[in-house]
Amino acid sequence: MPTANQIKSLLRSHSTGDDEQFYAVALQVAAAEARRGHQKLATEIRDLVRDTRKRIDSSEAVGNVVALARPTGEAADILEGVPTHLKTTDLVLEPSLRERIDRILREQKNLSRIKENNLRPRQRLLFTGPPGCGKTITASALANELGLPLFVVRLDSLLSRFLGESLTKLRLVFEAAETTRAVYLFDEFDSIGFTRNAPNDVGEMRRVLNAFLVFIERLRSNSMIIAATNYGERLDKALFRRFDDLVEFGLPASEQVRETIKRLLHNVGTERLSWRRVEQAAEGLSYAEITRACEEAIKDVLIHDLPKITNQALIKALAERRVYAYANH
Ligand SMILES: Nc1ncnc2c1ncn2[C@@H]1O[C@H](COP(=O)(O)OP(=O)(O)OP(=O)(O)O)[C@@H](O)[C@H]1O
Ligand SMILES: [Mg+2]
Repeated sequence: MPTANQIKSLLRSHSTGDDEQFYAVALQVAAAEARRGHQKLATEIRDLVRDTRKRIDSSEAVGNVVALARPTGEAADILEGVPTHLKTTDLVLEPSLRERIDRILREQKNLSRIKENNLRPRQRLLFTGPPGCGKTITASALANELGLPLFVVRLDSLLSRFLGESLTKLRLVFEAAETTRAVYLFDEFDSIGFTRNAPNDVGEMRRVLNAFLVFIERLRSNSMIIAATNYGERLDKALFRRFDDLVEFGLPASEQVRETIKRLLHNVGTERLSWRRVEQAAEGLSYAEITRACEEAIKDVLIHDLPKITNQALIKALAERRVYAYANH
């Protein structure tokens, strides 16, 4: 239990907005509990302090970025601070893809050593692959694992709504990347990446793409820039070498289908499933569609009060996603 003085101190620091004092007192309470042998409680308090600190740091970072971009008024529409909580181990990744992601993490964790030796760490990444195969979620897990905020740069709105101002906006994003270390995800990167050799090239777009390439080249801070697109094969090949790594995401193969389903359905028992049939039903579906199908199948289990998931329920749900997926592509 905290002492009366500690409670007074917590209230005082809360009312004056002195976060560091607030955390310090909370950690004193945790230490006192640990001394009394209440390890679990002590760990819970420490975890709460760590999570709160992280959340506040990231919302302040959003504040900084938006403040930076305020001169033109609408930067909040372009940079969206997205909360992150997953780790890369929560994702199902094909082994060579996991190795690539682990390598990016290792380099980020050894930045100073790499930079001291005049080498370039992997920090400018191009993610390609079909929808629902983990580009966004991997960017989010990378940010979380590195303890960095994630900002999604809405390129579509940057270009369509601010045509004429796009260059200024882009410059603001990169100024933010210099001053606020974070992961900056340029989603739908194809909206500028195509334009370089498009026949009816809009001059403005071409300038934006060229500026983007100059900005990533000049990036000095330890921020990470990730460009993501569904249409890697259509991007100008000259773009590829501007990135430190090209990471290709793909549809899950049968091993990944099985692992994804096992993880999602672990509460409803997968022992009775015929994997051959399930994998067949899931062939060609993305991780996102398999996830949706599993959620539907779990609802079925709940509604019909079944003891375990059945082949039939899961295969039906996968088949429904397939129809849906084809109707939408
Ligand atoms: N590798 C994965 N492991 C586990 N779940 C995944 C994986 N990839 C995708 N998912 C599931 O699919 C959802 C959508 O994935 P995500 O948003 O990362 O797709 P994306 O590749 O960015 O698609 P888009 O091109 O449409 O933006 C995730 O929220 C998650 O539920
Ligand atoms: Mg995405």
